[in-house]
Amino acid sequence: MTERSDSPAVRRLTDWDATRLESFIDAYGSPLYVLDLERVRENYRRLEAVFPDAEILYAVKANALGDVLTVLLEEGAGLECASAGEVQRALEAGASGSEVHYTAVNPPAQDLDWIVDAWNEHPELTVTAGSEDTIDRLADRGYDGRLCLRVNPGIGAGHHEKVQTGAAAKFGVPAERAVEVLRDAADRGFDVVGIHAHVGSGVSSDQLDDHREFVARMGGLAREVSEAIDGDGLEFVDVGGGFGVPYREDEEPLDLASVADATREALGEIDARLTIEPGRYFVADAGVLLTEVNTVKEARDTVVAGVDAGMTTLIRPAMYDAYHPIRNLTADAAEAAETAGSSAAEARETIPQTVAGPICESGDVFCSNRDLPASERGDVLAIGNAGAYGYEMANQYNSRPRPASVVRDGEAVRLSRRRETVEDVTRVEREARTVRD
Ligand code: LLP
Repeated sequence: MTERSDSPAVRRLTDWDATRLESFIDAYGSPLYVLDLERVRENYRRLEAVFPDAEILYAVKANALGDVLTVLLEEGAGLECASAGEVQRALEAGASGSEVHYTAVNPPAQDLDWIVDAWNEHPELTVTAGSEDTIDRLADRGYDGRLCLRVNPGIGAGHHEKVQTGAAAKFGVPAERAVEVLRDAADRGFDVVGIHAHVGSGVSSDQLDDHREFVARMGGLAREVSEAIDGDGLEFVDVGGGFGVPYREDEEPLDLASVADATREALGEIDARLTIEPGRYFVADAGVLLTEVNTVKEARDTVVAGVDAGMTTLIRPAMYDAYHPIRNLTADAAEAAETAGSSAAEARETIPQTVAGPICESGDVFCSNRDLPASERGDVLAIGNAGAYGYEMANQYNSRPRPASVVRDGEAVRLSRRRETVEDVTRVEREARTVRD
């Protein structure tokens, strides 16, 4: 689908309907992830409109929900998968082999075993290897299918040092060795189809020069590889994902059209297709996390609103000091009703608050001393931009069950992942006892 998109470049947390969101908590409980599939489609179409000739893969790790994969496959995306589990999800969502790229990062043996089995069923899938050793391990398993080489271009960018991959030693073959490694792989009978690198995640406007330099290096390498390797040449040059989205209320979105122009210009003339593989861009502003205020207390220097989501539900603030917008839906819904004349609720005072989760770590806070309407027990808060790397990074630390998720598709809302229970938390241990005894 190539229809041009005139959807807004960003959906802010304030754009969501407070009353509607709050009603989801009554129906599905708290905490709850909500994902709007229509917004995922809009985001895809906007990106596709500025990259009309590129192949677009979706980086599944950003949000692996089956509904998201189905929607993006329908839109025409392929899927970039980071593990056997993600490839399994891709195939379950109906992807064909040619729509699946598996990017092996220090791959566990089980993943390679699994992938080679999957390749026997789906010989069109592409494996991206980041080391000669991985290529050897693929050969040991009889793999001689489509091979892409991940290179390390020596330049990284991204919202935090922990996600700047382009220069990190663990990723890719140093670019200066790529030609030799690819020539060797071609000689060994692999079907060499592409080169790949990913600069990092959450690239912002002020890092676009680094992104351009990164793409220029990939273009230069593509030309070198094409000259050096006999045969059909490269099919594609994959410059990864990384397009940042605004998290702060006053942050402007990337100017995508100029990012696309700069990418093409930096790449230069190549005899191969440009491939990109964003994750965050499609899903971040399509998702919110809803959480209920369970306790409010005056601390020494702040008021703490204790909520039922924590760093186990959304780890980004604890892990990267990431900013997420927060809104008190109950206060906003009451204010909207008051404005509409249907209620006489008093406007809440705005006071600095720390929104904190139930985990026993001081890092378990979503914000510190942020101005928000004074919280009351039972209020529902929405945490914005939670569609990317939200549920995906959720875990059971402190033996906390993971939350439920719902998707919204137009007017329809449906449960997409049930809430885990305490029984789920102890299940694997119980099962181990059954096997053992
Ligand atoms: N391709 C590869 C090979 C990647 O490793 C990644 C992300 C992407 C594409 C997609 O990047 P994106 O377009 O989503 O920025 N948990 C972190 C982000 C980690 C990203 C890891 N790799 C966060 O919450 O910010």
